[in-house]
Amino acid sequence: MADTERHPFLHGLSKHRGAPPTVVVIFGASGDLTARKLIPAVYNLGFDNLLPADFYLVGYGRKPIPDDEFRALASDAIKEFSRRELNADVWSRIASRTSYVAGGYDEKAAFDKLAAHIDDLEKQLGRDVQRLFYISTPPSVFTPILQNLGASGLAAKHLGQPLHSKVIIEKPFGKDLASARALNETIRSVFEENQVYRIDHYLGKETVQDLLVQRFANAIFEPLWNRNFIDSVQITVAEEVGVGTRGGYYEQAGCLRDMIQNHTMQLLALTAMEPPVTLDAEAIRDEKVKLLKAIQPLDPRAGGDVARAQYAAGMMAGKAVKGYLQEDGISPQSGTETYAAMRLSINNWRWQGVPFYLRSGKCMARRVSEIAINFKCPPGTLFAAGQKFDLAANTLSFQIQPDEGLSLILNTKVPGLETRTQPVKMSFRYATTFGSNTPEAYERLVLDAMIGDGTLFIRGDEALASWTLCTPVLEAWAKAGRAGMDSYAAGSWGPPTSDALLAKNDHVWRQP
Ligand SMILES: NC(=O)c1ccc[n+]([C@@H]2O[C@H](COP(=O)([O-])OP(=O)(O)OC[C@H]3O[C@@H](n4cnc5c(N)ncnc54)[C@H](OP(=O)(O)O)[C@@H]3O)[C@@H](O)[C@H]2O)c1
Repeated sequence: MADTERHPFLHGLSKHRGAPPTVVVIFGASGDLTARKLIPAVYNLGFDNLLPADFYLVGYGRKPIPDDEFRALASDAIKEFSRRELNADVWSRIASRTSYVAGGYDEKAAFDKLAAHIDDLEKQLGRDVQRLFYISTPPSVFTPILQNLGASGLAAKHLGQPLHSKVIIEKPFGKDLASARALNETIRSVFEENQVYRIDHYLGKETVQDLLVQRFANAIFEPLWNRNFIDSVQITVAEEVGVGTRGGYYEQAGCLRDMIQNHTMQLLALTAMEPPVTLDAEAIRDEKVKLLKAIQPLDPRAGGDVARAQYAAGMMAGKAVKGYLQEDGISPQSGTETYAAMRLSINNWRWQGVPFYLRSGKCMARRVSEIAINFKCPPGTLFAAGQKFDLAANTLSFQIQPDEGLSLILNTKVPGLETRTQPVKMSFRYATTFGSNTPEAYERLVLDAMIGDGTLFIRGDEALASWTLCTPVLEAWAKAGRAGMDSYAAGSWGPPTSDALLAKNDHVWRQP
């Protein structure tokens, strides 16, 4: 149940005005994500008057940082990374209620100190606040943090009441099915599921949310959204960057874990799920889980349903770029993929026979995330493809980033005395229609967690359904080592084995 439903004083208020008094505690507060995304998100919520009047921010980490220094770090982060310039009034309101607690992640006594600090804030305020714990550390310490939130009583604080404690957990959520299951069990030994917000920041992006609106608020799409009219679906999450200085982390992760299991699968689930009965978090997440469970197990063998590759030296934006195996911290025998692609079959009434293609990679030709719905070609009786008729299948594409928007490829008559056709693109761009200063994903997600709306977060069973699909592939790849590893030039659109996945069905990858 959302807090807006539970809290008698919040009835009648729009959800964006209804966040209850809250203390947000960030674990890993000296880290990169905190500076680049979390502090700017809190600041922009403050700027938009979306923080509750009684709002506190507490940083937590091993490094001892005096309160003043933490506030200075936070204001520097806002100056550098916020979408809006630092406004002194807005920041001073937040800064006056910002503090820092130093302690280890596996030190129960330090969590007791944190609990006492929050109790003090409540005493000063003269009322209770909800506690929202944001775990923004490397995953190696997720478990001790969760256990100490339990042991110190912080997790159970106000349980069963409107201001119950909540936890946001960063990705990666496990590294395979067994570890995700174990993490779920740790979480459930401490928190109830409705206190837990597993984050995938892709779900906070405007266009991802727009996908639901486009599908279910427009009469023209839903009747066509099935195997009778759709030929195939392609989902691309392409990055321009290589591994840079994060080679050590990336060697343990790889593209399937880093991008496909979470972001790309989430895009797939929202694209292909059945219409939910309501827009409630549970109704939407039930449909996503049903969809993920309907995906057929993948054949991980070479020539099967998956392809993997590493980027080789190439040119990007006119500059020579090193190959993955030459990057710092990468073993020359590395079996870690920087590109992964898969062909999925969804065994349900709506999608039987429609291939879904997913791909993601580093050092690709362009940074772009998109979902492309390729419709079947009309009968060729009137305008058969040929000299005068340059016919394309209608394609509806949702551009998630950058340049968020939607476009539709239509066949059109070229002006002139004879009948010639040409595909044209009709586009809608968020920035053009609504202005470019849209909220960052983390703003939406932090606010939703404060309010108690889990729609844009991943439920425990959803994470497991996605790992169930990906884990056999990861295991097969680990066993195969470098056998079957393809390569692609940095700056290209991917390897030949990925093209071959589509060629089996006479399809080709789009160049978005
Ligand atoms: N950065 C991003 O863009 C990004 C994007 C998506 C998801 N994430 C996820 O968000 C989380 C945080 O990312 P981040 O980039 O901010 O991480 P980070 O900078 O490497 O670490 C965050 C903080 O955690 C503590 N820490 C670092 N290594 C540790 C270790 N081995 N053991 C215990 N504590 C350690 C440090 O604080 P103290 O030393 O003060 O304790 C550090 O400042 C990760 O789970 C990451 O996967 C990050």
